[in-house]
Amino acid sequence: MRSSLLALLLAAFATFAAFAAPGGEMEQARGRWAASPHGPMLERILPPGFEPADLPEPRSRGAQLTARYCVQCHNLANPAMHHAEKWPAIVERMVLRMQGKGNMGRLMAEMMAGVEAPSAEQARVLVAYLQRRAQKPLDPRKVPEAYRAEGGAFRLACNQCHVLPDPARYTASEWPAVVARMEKNMEWMNRVVSSSPIPGEPQLRIEDINAFLARHARKPR
Ligand code: HEC
Ligand code: HEC
Repeated sequence: MRSSLLALLLAAFATFAAFAAPGGEMEQARGRWAASPHGPMLERILPPGFEPADLPEPRSRGAQLTARYCVQCHNLANPAMHHAEKWPAIVERMVLRMQGKGNMGRLMAEMMAGVEAPSAEQARVLVAYLQRRAQKPLDPRKVPEAYRAEGGAFRLACNQCHVLPDPARYTASEWPAVVARMEKNMEWMNRVVSSSPIPGEPQLRIEDINAFLARHARKPR
């Protein structure tokens, strides 16, 4: 019991040290984009809260490369945000930006000075890692209800930023916390939220969404 706790603490410390050691790279990177004139735009690209230590398999090369390259312009992306099919094109787009060839190249020129790009081999490791830990999309053959009236609120709200997630990813009691975090993500990323309803605008119906997810959730063990 005690030794396993110690092992856990040591592992946590090693992870922390691995990310924190080289001159606080993460802090440096964040400082660079936060201070840029485009800071407010960059800040909204992805929500805060997902930190290098939250990356799955934190000591793998894929996680370390993600923590090194993917915090240079915006908050860290969770590999589980997108499904596997989507990651290669996203990484390709991001690598072009890191090489200064992105469609926002001039806009970001002044910020780009300290940005480094992965090698082709590193980019392959990154993609493989993100795909391995990717979101699992909802299978319409298994959950056809998602495309019927009862899935309306869920479908409308939950495919704005990524594919519809597989409801079997969590149990009914786990989903509400995830949905609450997604509500925050929506506020952060300026998508549809319920606060000030405009007539005719789609509404975020949290109760309907949670009820739908609960019906199709993973059964607790
Ligand atoms: C050189 C700056 C830069 C770096 C470094 C960078 N990004 Fe981005 N990223 C952007 C910009 C600008 C956008 C918004 C425009 C867009 O979506 O292409 C963005 C958007 C995103 C989005 C949201 C768009 C979507 O399709 O969901 C994700 C996810 C993302 N980046 C992941 C990554 C990952 C993973 C890495 C590391 C491999 C990375 N980024 C590195 C500049 C960067
Ligand atoms: C405004 C954009 C946005 C919307 C809309 C959105 N998400 Fe997400 N989602 C994200 C981002 C960003 C991440 C990665 C960061 C995180 O996990 O918070 C994510 C990750 C996820 C994940 C994987 C992470 C995990 O912990 O398992 C699931 C599952 C998920 N979303 C479910 C949902 C559901 C259900 C809805 C509808 C209520 C929804 N999302 C709506 C942005 C969004």
